[in-house]
Amino acid sequence: MVNNFGLCKAANIKRIAVLTSGEDAPGMNVAIRAVARRAIFRRIEILGVRYGYQGLMEGNYFPLELGSVGDIIHKGGTSLNTVRCDEFKTKEGQAQGLKHLRANRVGGLVVIGGDGSFRGAQKLSQLGMPSIGVPATIDNDIAGTDFTLGFDTAVNTVTEAIDKVRDTATSLDRIFIIEVMGRNKGDIAVWAGLSAGAESILIPEVKPDVDDIIKRLIIGQRRGKKHSIIVVTEGVADTNKVARAIHDRTGFDIRVIVLGHIQRGGSPTAVDRVLGCQFGARAVDLLLEGKSGVMVGIQNNRIVDVPLEEALQKSHKLPLSLYHLAQSLSI
Ligand code: ADP
Ligand code: F6P
Repeated sequence: MVNNFGLCKAANIKRIAVLTSGEDAPGMNVAIRAVARRAIFRRIEILGVRYGYQGLMEGNYFPLELGSVGDIIHKGGTSLNTVRCDEFKTKEGQAQGLKHLRANRVGGLVVIGGDGSFRGAQKLSQLGMPSIGVPATIDNDIAGTDFTLGFDTAVNTVTEAIDKVRDTATSLDRIFIIEVMGRNKGDIAVWAGLSAGAESILIPEVKPDVDDIIKRLIIGQRRGKKHSIIVVTEGVADTNKVARAIHDRTGFDIRVIVLGHIQRGGSPTAVDRVLGCQFGARAVDLLLEGKSGVMVGIQNNRIVDVPLEEALQKSHKLPLSLYHLAQSLSI
């Protein structure tokens, strides 16, 4: 059936629920708002679940109205709160969650989170609860989507931080090593490093080569360059050891900065807000089309849906051309 807005309604769903799970990411609130407003626009009821899968298991639900999601579009974090909940990984935990969903007459669920959260959504889908994933993590580490919600904001936060560090680096002729988040992926490091003009970038996708960094620093030093920014993805190298090695071989004054959780906070960028609106609305439409076990995503600027199985089995690939471009421009 297609209604006046050209939207297909195949499933007889009257009420859906939305939750955020795992680590928070800027843009989660945008997606919550979009899910709620799209549901109301399409004349179905919408419940918010507090504290992710834990709230699902405890029946921590409340109705969302148009006004309940007002004034959150610009806020970082998640107004539904989030938590890691190991109990939901068990069959008993999932059965408990499903029981509350059914008791609340929920016909479909939107899960906003990362790959861990999608495993939970996949389980619920297999148990018969239509479930859709909305990818939200600063790491940009989910296969099947070019971008996840929160990534653009994190990259902008890191870029701004590097710009500030550059002011002091140039004033004092110092080298700065800046450690950024990303878990096992170098996306934040490469995008922020390229946009802030970092001299070297260390990422999990490319074997760290401290000799190469030192060589580049020495070449720069010879032509009068006295400051440098090196961006390192967390876990790739012991940044203090790298700093010592560089100091011992070049004599440069060197400082290490771990940017940490500021990368997870802050008002979402316009890019993340637009993406959150698109993802949230599409997730509701997919449920009403009778889809389940899929994730919304963006590929080549088009909003797509991808089976959760595919998103979970495949690995996100950072376009290494960006890394090589950064290296070639920071000579
Ligand atoms: P993210 O979603 O950001 O990757 P986590 O990996 O911490 O974060 O996962 C978030 C939550 O998703 C977990 O605390 C758990 O409740 C649920 N989850 C993770 N893996 C599974 C699984 N294999 N089965 C069911 N639920 C899972
Ligand atoms: O997945 C987002 C992320 O911020 C990663 O970049 C980082 O490795 C991890 O979460 C940190 O987790 P926690 O907040 O538990 O320290």
